[in-house]
Amino acid sequence: MKGIVLAGGKGTRLYPLTKSISKQLLPVYDKPLVYYPISTLMLAGIREIAIIATPISLPLFERLLGTGEDWGVRFSYLEQEEPRGLAEAFLIAEDFINGDPVALALGDNIFYSAGLTGLLTEAAELTQGARIFASEVSDPTQFGVVGFDRNGMANSIVEKPTRPTSSWAVTGLYFYDSQVVEIARGVKPSERNELEITDVNRAYLDAGTLQVTRLPRGTAWLDAGTVDSLLQASQFVATLEARQRMKLSCPEEVAFRKGFISREDLLHLAASLKNEYGAYLRKISEGDQ
Ligand code: DAU
Repeated sequence: MKGIVLAGGKGTRLYPLTKSISKQLLPVYDKPLVYYPISTLMLAGIREIAIIATPISLPLFERLLGTGEDWGVRFSYLEQEEPRGLAEAFLIAEDFINGDPVALALGDNIFYSAGLTGLLTEAAELTQGARIFASEVSDPTQFGVVGFDRNGMANSIVEKPTRPTSSWAVTGLYFYDSQVVEIARGVKPSERNELEITDVNRAYLDAGTLQVTRLPRGTAWLDAGTVDSLLQASQFVATLEARQRMKLSCPEEVAFRKGFISREDLLHLAASLKNEYGAYLRKISEGDQ
């Protein structure tokens, strides 16, 4: 399975913070926001990852992430000229996807829970149909919303409904079979003039091949799209990291634990960071956590 991190968009809700820098490069406590969705894909076992960003910020992502070799993965970089909608990711990345199943992670979504790796690895085994993850929220009108029938089967999916049929929001992590490119090609721009991911998901729902996993209690799902949610995300990560003495979504650690890089590779990365982050990597390499 391949992976895409969609890290474009204008970030206008965060102006002036994002006037000269992409939102996904802003810090969430001790690492850039984009590290979190990258870690999510890596936890799923995905090693070929395309980063999609605006033409202006793409070189900055490249400077931050490089080839991916250091983390035992391979990054490709693709431009999205204008934010024409999430589903455009599959059209931009068609050659990269090259007929394989693909996971899409939104560049501003952070996931944290105890059993997450298991859920993600299972999702990454998908070869047919689609799997999305839903999370209960207090204001579903801000999200894609899944409705369920009496047996708990998904029976509707609507983007930002004024009258939501449930409180289950679609999160920014999607797994699809290779059909997704064709499906995305058939999507028409919505009222807000975007190619909606919800229309892609509805196509799978109508075909009876959409699986919806409801994230269990205790799962943290944060989208750092406003100043408040960005601050809350930083506070959340800072609090957990201080308490547990473990980092959240640290790609170097994920790479090591997943066996993408060796102990020596991790020590080499640790040596290049002469700060607390480097010290943490060294501790991990010593098996101290
Ligand atoms: O966060 C989950 C929600 O994400 C889902 O519940 C919705 O169904 C889905 O449509 C999406 O809703 P948002 O309104 O939050 O999407 P937004 O336009 O904020 O875009 C999400 C991220 O993707 C954001 O960081 C910017 C980036 N983006 C967005 C668009 C439209 C792009 O990189 N390219 C784009 O064309």
